[in-house]
Amino acid sequence: MKILSKFFLLCAILTLVSCNKGGDDKIMVGYFGSMTGAEATFGVSTRDGVLLAIEEWNKAGGVLGKQIEIKAYDNQGKPEEARLSVEKLINADNVIAVLGEVASTRSLAAAPVAQQNKVPMISPSSTNPLVTQKGDYIFRVCFIDPFQGEVMAKFAFNSLKKKKAAILRDSKSDYSMGLATYFEKTFTALGGEIVGDEKYVSGDVDFKAQLTNLKSKGPEFIFVPGYYTEVGLIARQAKEQGISVPLLGGDGWDSPELVSIGGKSMEGNFFSNHYTTEDPRPEVQNFIKNYEARFGSRPNALAASGYDAARVLFEAIKRANSVEGPKLRDAIAATKEFQGVTGIITLNEQRDATKSAVVLEVKDGQFKYLETVNP
Ligand code: PHE
Repeated sequence: MKILSKFFLLCAILTLVSCNKGGDDKIMVGYFGSMTGAEATFGVSTRDGVLLAIEEWNKAGGVLGKQIEIKAYDNQGKPEEARLSVEKLINADNVIAVLGEVASTRSLAAAPVAQQNKVPMISPSSTNPLVTQKGDYIFRVCFIDPFQGEVMAKFAFNSLKKKKAAILRDSKSDYSMGLATYFEKTFTALGGEIVGDEKYVSGDVDFKAQLTNLKSKGPEFIFVPGYYTEVGLIARQAKEQGISVPLLGGDGWDSPELVSIGGKSMEGNFFSNHYTTEDPRPEVQNFIKNYEARFGSRPNALAASGYDAARVLFEAIKRANSVEGPKLRDAIAATKEFQGVTGIITLNEQRDATKSAVVLEVKDGQFKYLETVNP
């Protein structure tokens, strides 16, 4: 008897939960990001891009006749928290899809949860190739690091005419380790030489030992594929040690904090990114205008990627005419020539986007557009 009543209770709960999936009148989308901690601007900028997309769609009637709602969790930059966030989003909040993460290490930690539950996950800007290899429910709307590494290697060798590189990478970051390796591969294939290769760990604040070693090798530039907090400090300490060669890096530099932390030491350094505010395409300029009106600041590539990831999802819901995991998965996978702010998004067999990258220079505290590199 007892067992039977427990069984009925369980049935009642399950019915309630399944009814709640997506809500009756709402579509619930999950978001997870680092909104506090050393990479706080990544999570906040991306979330704001996602919010803008949701508000625009809702104003235009939502999707499938329902308003879109977001449930967001902060992971403080911790991979384990990222995984737990996605567990909560799926099991407690019944989201129909998850948007996130920015940092590849955190996307890698969370992706298996989405995959096991057959809930699509779209990373706006994780570039390590392994992220989408976690399974067929895992997507991204950005390019991957074998390409990004090649972009900066070619820029250094062909545009800057530099032959001797040093590398300073973050051994705790899948993004940093991968990007350094891909950069090295192309740079040496072009005929360049890696004269020094040093490591640090995310959270470090003193880079003097590594910089002393690298300086003694006489590089013509230092490739630092890290995130903005450490990069800003590295730039300062490099200057303090009399290192005058430029620093080069990747998308992980993109933050308003880069220049606040690095100050004048960031001037004349270069990095690759997903978008530039100088892109004259109307969809880009409209996005900038609307974002500024809503949040009072200029959107960076994180915000633009969040905006694109959210809109790719909403378009897919519309095409699928469903929020069921497998149907939605297939519709996302079929994304073709989506007019994104970060470029035109077509998802390939690996569920990655093949898109161009831009190279930017830090000049007068701004990120100045230099060139576009096509895949
Ligand atoms: N591409 C980085 C990673 O995979 C994250 C990032 C994207 C950071 C865009 C800044 C801007 O870890």
